[in-house]
Amino acid sequence: MRVLVAASEVVGFAKTGGLADVTGSLPRALARRGIDCRVILPLHGSCRRTGLPEPTPLAFDVPLGDRTVPCRIWSARLPGSDVPAYFLENDDIFGRDQPEFGRGLYQFNSTDGTKRDYPDNGERFAFFCHAVIQAIRALDWWPDVLHCNDWQSGLAPVYLREHFGRHPDPAVAARWNRIRCLYSIHNIAYQGRFAPPLMEKAHLDWRLFNHHQLEFHDSLCFLKAGIVFSDRINTVSPTYAEEIKTPWYGRGMQGVLIERSNRLCGIVNGVDYGDWDPSTDPRIPRRYGLADFEAGKAECKAALAARMGLRGWQGQPLLGMVARLVEQKGLDIMHDAAIGFLGQGARMVVLGEGDPWFRDMLSGLAQRFPGQVGLRFGFDEDTAHIIESGSDMFLMPSLFEPSGLNQLYSLRYGTPPVVRGTGGLADTVTDTNTNTLEEGTATGFVFHPYSAEAFRDAVLRAMALWRHDQAKWGRVVRSGMSQDWSWERSAGEYHKLYSDMVAG
Ligand code: ADP
Ligand code: GLC
Repeated sequence: MRVLVAASEVVGFAKTGGLADVTGSLPRALARRGIDCRVILPLHGSCRRTGLPEPTPLAFDVPLGDRTVPCRIWSARLPGSDVPAYFLENDDIFGRDQPEFGRGLYQFNSTDGTKRDYPDNGERFAFFCHAVIQAIRALDWWPDVLHCNDWQSGLAPVYLREHFGRHPDPAVAARWNRIRCLYSIHNIAYQGRFAPPLMEKAHLDWRLFNHHQLEFHDSLCFLKAGIVFSDRINTVSPTYAEEIKTPWYGRGMQGVLIERSNRLCGIVNGVDYGDWDPSTDPRIPRRYGLADFEAGKAECKAALAARMGLRGWQGQPLLGMVARLVEQKGLDIMHDAAIGFLGQGARMVVLGEGDPWFRDMLSGLAQRFPGQVGLRFGFDEDTAHIIESGSDMFLMPSLFEPSGLNQLYSLRYGTPPVVRGTGGLADTVTDTNTNTLEEGTATGFVFHPYSAEAFRDAVLRAMALWRHDQAKWGRVVRSGMSQDWSWERSAGEYHKLYSDMVAG
C-alpha cells in the first residue's frame, strides 16, 4: 500500500496548529504498519530553516494565470523516521514566512495590528494542489491513495480527476484514475473561498463552477472541492463527523456532507508519545510518570510559575491554556468565567498567538488580577510543553473542536482538562462525577452550554476537588495518565479505510 499525504504543514518543518501534529505523526504510525507512506508540503521558509530538506534534480512548470511557474522538489525524512517528505519549492509563493517580521504561513501582521490573509492565498494553494499531482509524475511514484487535508489541498483531487484523469491516452488516464482520494477535514470553519476569477488563474474549467461542484455562494471553494471530488471523506472525531451535518457546525457544508454521508466517517486523532510524554520529554523541568507525578508536577509547577511571573501561587490551583487565540477556542466566554475563578484564588497561564482583541482581553485580566495571570503571546513549543507539565488543570472551553490534541496531551501529563463537550473533546474526556469516580473512568471536567457561567462552574468544580480531596484528584489524574491515545489505534482505522478505498 502506497499513501501520499498532502498538507500545508507538518510538525518539525512548519506548524500553526494540530494539523501539523497529525501530518507529522500519522505517516510514521502508518509506516510502522508497513505502509509506504510519504508526505508532500510546500517548501515554506520555516522548512528551509531547519536545514533538513535538500534539492532534488526533479523540477517542472505549473501553469498559473498566463504564466508558467517553476517548481522544484526538495526532499528530507520526517525527523526520527525513514518516512520521505517532499517539499515543493517556489520562493515567491512559499518562501515568505518570517515570524520575526510578522509574516506567517498564511497570514501577516497588517499595520493596524490585526492578522490578514495573504491576498494571493488562492493562487498559492491552487499552485500547491496542481504541483502535488505533477510531483507524482515527476517522482514516478504512484500512490494507491492520495490523502489530502483541509482546504489548502482541496483542489488536488480536482486536478487529478479533471486534468490528468482525462488524458487522451486511456492507459495514461487509467493510471491516474487508479489513485483513490481521501479528504480529511480538520476544521470546516476554514473553507478556502476565493473570488471566481481564480477559476481562470487556476486553469479550472468554468463548467465546474456550479453549485454541485466548486461553487459556494458565488466563490470558488477549495474545501467543497475536496469534499465533492474525493472518494472518501473523514473528519477527526466521530462526534464532529455528526456535528458537521447540522447547519450551525456545518457552516454551509452540511448539505453536501449529508449527500455524501455514506462516504463520511470520523477518526479521532492520536498522540505522538515520542514527543508528548512527561517521562521522556526533554523540554520539561523534571520528568515524571504515574509513580512520581506528584513530586514531578510540583517541580514543574514551580518552574512554570517562575517562568510566567506568577506570585503567591503556592497552595493555589494553576490553570493552563495553549491555543490559537481565535473564536473557536472559546475565548469569548473566558473573560467573565475567569473573573469567577481568578476571584477564588486560581492562577492562570495562557500561551497563544492570534487575534489582538483576545490578547487585549487577556491582558485586561492580568491587570485586574496582578500576579495571578501569566501570559505569553507568540508561538513557543517549549513553553507549550512546560505548561502541560506544570499546570494542575488545562482549559479548553472550545466553541467547537474537531478533534483537539491538547486535551490528549493534558491527560498524559496528569493535568485534567476542563472542556466543553463538543467534537473530539466529547469523545475523549470523561466528566468527573460520583459514578465515574467510583468506576475509575473520570479523566476531566466537561460542561455543555456555551456560556461563561457553565465554564466557570466546571472550573470551580475542578478547583473544589483539587482543594478538598487530593485522594480523589489523584484518581482522576491517574486514570488520565494511564489512557492510551497513541496513533497506533487511529492509524489502524486509517489503514482499514485506505484498504476499503483501494478494494472498492
Ligand atoms: P488546533 O489545531 O485547532 O490549533 P489542537 O488542540 O488540535 O488545536 O492542536 C494545537 C497544537 O498546536 C498543539 O500541539 C499545541 O501545543 C500547539 N499550539 C497552539 N498554539 C501554540 C503556541 N502559541 N505555541 C506553541 N504551540 C502551540
Ligand atoms: C484542527 C482542529 C483541531 C484538530 C486539528 C488536527 O486544527 O481545530 O481540533 O485537533 O485540526 O486534526
